[in-house]
Amino acid sequence: MQNPPVVQTENLEKSYRLGKVTVQAVRGVNLTVYLGQFVVVTGPSGSGKTTLLNLIGTLDRPTRGRVLIDGEDIGGMKDAELTKIRRHKIGFIFQFHNLIPVLNALENVQLPLLTAKVKSRLARERASSLLARVGLSERLDHLPDELSGGEQQRVAIARALANRPRLVLADEPTGELDTKTGAETVRILHDLAKQENTAVLTVTHDPVVAEKADRLFEMRDGQLVTSSPSETRYRIEAVEPVPPQPRTSLSQPN
Ligand SMILES: Nc1ncnc2c1ncn2[C@@H]1O[C@H](COP(=O)(O)OP(=O)(O)O)[C@@H](O)[C@H]1O
Ligand SMILES: [Mg+2]
Repeated sequence: MQNPPVVQTENLEKSYRLGKVTVQAVRGVNLTVYLGQFVVVTGPSGSGKTTLLNLIGTLDRPTRGRVLIDGEDIGGMKDAELTKIRRHKIGFIFQFHNLIPVLNALENVQLPLLTAKVKSRLARERASSLLARVGLSERLDHLPDELSGGEQQRVAIARALANRPRLVLADEPTGELDTKTGAETVRILHDLAKQENTAVLTVTHDPVVAEKADRLFEMRDGQLVTSSPSETRYRIEAVEPVPPQPRTSLSQPN
């Protein structure tokens, strides 16, 4: 049986007015993300990826259309209800990790648990177990600036998953990392989310992220286009300059 949908968007639109100009950042997006799926949206800068993620993450309100989280329309919800959804159902990962600089790795991961009123002993156990699973059991008491970029992003992954969210939203999670560290970071996010049966929706202009996608989409000018992993792989390879091929001869068949 198909897993239940965690996110559904229906004809989602967002436009911004800047003086006399209206920018249509998201134009009629219909997307369903099912529990446990790893969904990737690629697309160039300015195509509307962050706007889409913010609408789904309840951080921004649509101009038209609806967002349903676990079947519930978030459009009519009050701020207090939205805060509750963000706290319990959604984990966020950003390009810049957004860890709290004066808290160590363990405290950063404990924080969302304590905010959700989990008892401190349980919060500590959950946080240290997640940090061990992202390979950081030796780094619990390190402050963010005592960690490498890849390690900081792994703390951010552990933090995003702390409250067992139904959904993790990741905006350019590899944006600040080199290709190898980026690929490793995506693998860790993918594997941990699969173990926890959490859906992940990640938007990125980095083709490396697409390698792990269960479902892959491309955003172009605010619209979502289905893409397949093999097409993306082809595009990555196509970035390498290809020497001109000799023209095939026009000899007669047989
Ligand atoms: N707060 C805003 N006010 C006005 N225009 C915006 C705002 N946020 C985004 N935009 C515009 O919406 C379009 C999509 O932006 P964004 O969602 O950030 O794209 P991406 O994340 O794919 O780079 C861009 O043209 C951008 O300039
Ligand atoms: Mg963006």
